[in-house]
Amino acid sequence: MESTSLVVLGAGKLGRVFVRQLGESVDFHRRHHRAEYRIVAWADSTAAFVNSKGLAFEALSAISARKEAGASFAEQGGDRSSSAPGAEDEATARAFELLGEIGELAKGGPPPLVIDLTSSARTGAVLEGALARGFSAVTANKLPVAGAQKLFDSLTSTPRFRYEATVASAVPVIETCLGLLRNGDRVDAFTGALSGTIGHLMTGLEDGKPFSKLVTTAMQRGYTERDPRADLGGEDVARKALILARTLGRKLEFADVALEPLVPTNLSLLDVEDFIAALPGLDANFAQRVAQARAAGKALRYAAAMDEGGVAVGPVAVPKGGALGSLRGRDNLLAISSKYYPDLPLVLQGSGDGIEAAASAVQGDLIELILFETYRRG
Ligand SMILES: NC(=O)c1ccc[n+]([C@@H]2O[C@H](COP(=O)([O-])OP(=O)(O)OC[C@H]3O[C@@H](n4cnc5c(N)ncnc54)[C@H](OP(=O)(O)O)[C@@H]3O)[C@@H](O)[C@H]2O)c1
Repeated sequence: MESTSLVVLGAGKLGRVFVRQLGESVDFHRRHHRAEYRIVAWADSTAAFVNSKGLAFEALSAISARKEAGASFAEQGGDRSSSAPGAEDEATARAFELLGEIGELAKGGPPPLVIDLTSSARTGAVLEGALARGFSAVTANKLPVAGAQKLFDSLTSTPRFRYEATVASAVPVIETCLGLLRNGDRVDAFTGALSGTIGHLMTGLEDGKPFSKLVTTAMQRGYTERDPRADLGGEDVARKALILARTLGRKLEFADVALEPLVPTNLSLLDVEDFIAALPGLDANFAQRVAQARAAGKALRYAAAMDEGGVAVGPVAVPKGGALGSLRGRDNLLAISSKYYPDLPLVLQGSGDGIEAAASAVQGDLIELILFETYRRG
């Protein structure tokens, strides 16, 4: 069994867990899937570690520990070479060069596989470049698949590209949507809760807790970004809804998603401290909306929805007994109505926001692609 060369871009929270998981799973995948892989390059935004024979997992673990402690790959002695030193996008230039280098080294063997675990808006071109060279590619980074429709179409025009972890982590929503299309099904609508952080807030509101207290507690527990507006603005959920809609065949851009943020947009200009100080001013309104929903037998949710009218993301009162209305806590949920699921929707539910789960979804994509290439090559 030939070993597939992996190029991992990104060494943040997800990248480090992913590399650790891959090391732990080497024997498992050899036994269960007859799949062999080795990491030949691992890059952060400053430099890359490269070894065509494969970087030892013990060495990767040490690099990862130092990275977690604050030492960039450049500071750890990684290769900084780039034909565009000092360029604004030196990291992307380096990634392109890695493709050329690894492509040469892997000639004659299985096609290398590039894994985008960055939060960069610029890796879409790198992924396109990798696919054009005959590599396979996986992304957990939503930005390439939630970028221009043209880029999405280009990336997904080959079965050598997968992106399961971009929506709901390891809950297999992308694979399920693709599976429904393979079944000859026609998906007319979906509704879902696609943010564990916002789900936690909505459940707390239902339990009568003030919005401001819920947000500050979520911040302290590390559930939100340092600036919680990154979560409360709803863009992340809108990107996920866009990715799902496109996966189901809709053609639309991010601007076509009707997005209502959870907090008013006029608070977006404040700095973080002033924003937090302004939150108690929203408590009464949220309490009133929750009470109104309850009086109508409904529950307030922050939903992503697609129907014949388009894709919308925002707060909405939903029937309390339905899939979305009975959801609690940080779980993600997707309820799909289709030609073959006309009355009761097909419902997928599970924890959608754990780094371990997200890394495992990337691992699943990677093994699927290795197996695909193995069968293809005979
Ligand atoms: N965390 C999760 O649970 C989760 C779940 C699903 C999907 N995701 C997605 O997965 C991605 C990574 O998440 P994260 O939490 O690990 O983010 P993160 O902590 O911000 O890490 C991003 C990493 O990407 C690196 N990077 C940026 N541009 C690069 C480039 N051009 N080439 C190589 N490396 C580059 C950064 O380098 P520096 O360290 O040098 O800055 C950093 O190591 C994001 O797109 C996120 O939305 C995350």
